[in-house]
Order: sequence, then C-alpha cells, then structure tokens
Amino acid sequence: MSRRTSVERPGAREWVPDEPDERSLAEGIQVCRGCELYRDATQGVPGQGPVDAAVMALGEQPGDQEDRQGIPFVGPAGRLLDRACEEAGLDPSVVYRTNAVKHFRFDPGRAGKRIHKRPGRVHVTACGPWLVAELDLVRPRGVLVLGATAGGAVFGPSFRIGESRGRPLEWPADGIGSEWSPSWVVATAHPSAVLRSRERDRDYARLVADLELATSLLSGAARPPAVSADRAASRPGSSPG
Ligand code: URA
Ligand code: SF4
Repeated sequence: MSRRTSVERPGAREWVPDEPDERSLAEGIQVCRGCELYRDATQGVPGQGPVDAAVMALGEQPGDQEDRQGIPFVGPAGRLLDRACEEAGLDPSVVYRTNAVKHFRFDPGRAGKRIHKRPGRVHVTACGPWLVAELDLVRPRGVLVLGATAGGAVFGPSFRIGESRGRPLEWPADGIGSEWSPSWVVATAHPSAVLRSRERDRDYARLVADLELATSLLSGAARPPAVSADRAASRPGSSPG
C-alpha cells in the first residue's frame, strides 16, 4: 500500500496508563500509535466483559463488525463462540473477551469490501502491553486461547494449536510481562477457522469439547496443570484452581 514508506512501531507501552482501569484502558487504546494499524481502522477495540471475569477469551484481532462497533466478538465468529460456550456450559457472564491486537488489519477489496489480513508478529508484539494491562486488571483464573495468533501472543511463534489443544496448559514460565499468572490455559481453534472449515461439524464439536475442558477447570472437575514449587512460590497473588 502507498503509505508504507516508513512504518513506525514504537509499541503500545507509552500509551498504557500507569494504573489502568477499564475506562482508561479503553481510552488509551483509542489514541494508541504503537503500530501503524490505527491508521486504517475505524477505532480500537478494547476487551469487554466483567473485570472480575474468571476466564479471558483471547482472539486474534477485531473483524469487520468489531471494527465498526468497537466491541469484540460481535460478528459471525463471536456468535459461533457464544453458541459453543453455551453448549459447553461456560457461562458468558464469567468471560472477558479480548484480542491479541486491538486494531483491525485488512486489505482493501473490491467495492469497499475489507479483507481480513492476519496481523503479523510485529503487530502482536507492539500491541502486547495492552494485553498485559488487561491481564493485570481482570486477573482471570484461566485463559482461553483462540487460534494461532492468540497462542503466539502467549507462548511465542512456535506455538501450534494442533499440538496444544485438548489438555490444560501452564501459563508460560517467563510470562508475557504481566504481574498476574493465570492458573491454566486452554487452547482451541479460532471460531473463524471453524466457520471456514470444510469439516465444520467436526471442528465445531472439537471447539465445544475444548470449551468443556475450560468449564471443568472452573468447576474443579478437572485439575489445572501442576506448577513447579519454585514457580508457585514466586507467583504473585495466585490462588488454587
Ligand atoms: N475474531 C477475533 O479474533 N476477534 C474478534 O473480536 C472477532 C473475530
Ligand atoms: Fe496500538 Fe495495538 Fe492499535 Fe497498534 S494495534 S495502534 S499497538 S492498539
């Protein structure tokens, strides 16, 4: 695109308020210039949900509808996720929804259509300070990683959904810079990938099964991954389960 003569990506950190609350986070994201994605997007899309939510659902980036409305997971992928949560017994009122990247990345298509473009590692890294701030605000017991971009934001670029789903994962030992360490992570496919899948029924069932694991971890019916003793001791504010 024509405007890409020099791309500045200082990262979001300087826009993150010192002691953020829900409102100052949302305001900060609107004025963030941590990477170039703010330029073409309608607005930034902060996380949404109860600030004392037990679970953080982490997606990739806002889609077309989310970009227009300023709310995460309001489009088709979000509706699929809602339905799957309901089937899995995961109460939506305990889920805070957010994305690894807060501005919509897209390519211009024909007739004003905007075509989703996966955010790059550079965008995930630039936007990371907002995710850290959301984690420290919400302090969720568990994180639901939706797809490869979200997985990369937590575990780094070598993360693969196929190898990681189906069992509770431990929050990475070196963290992502948050003070808070969730007790578990459940990784699953991105709901958009389920929507696009040629084996949609099978992939939807697998999504529901992964969400059921999160439900079981919340209720105590499944155990979170064991944490090594020295890590447990150094964990700020962690609570069992
Ligand atoms: N896909 C995402 O990853 N996040 C949204 O908010 C919507 C669609
Ligand atoms: Fe800032 Fe993230 Fe938006 Fe980039 S995508 S401008 S880092 S909020």
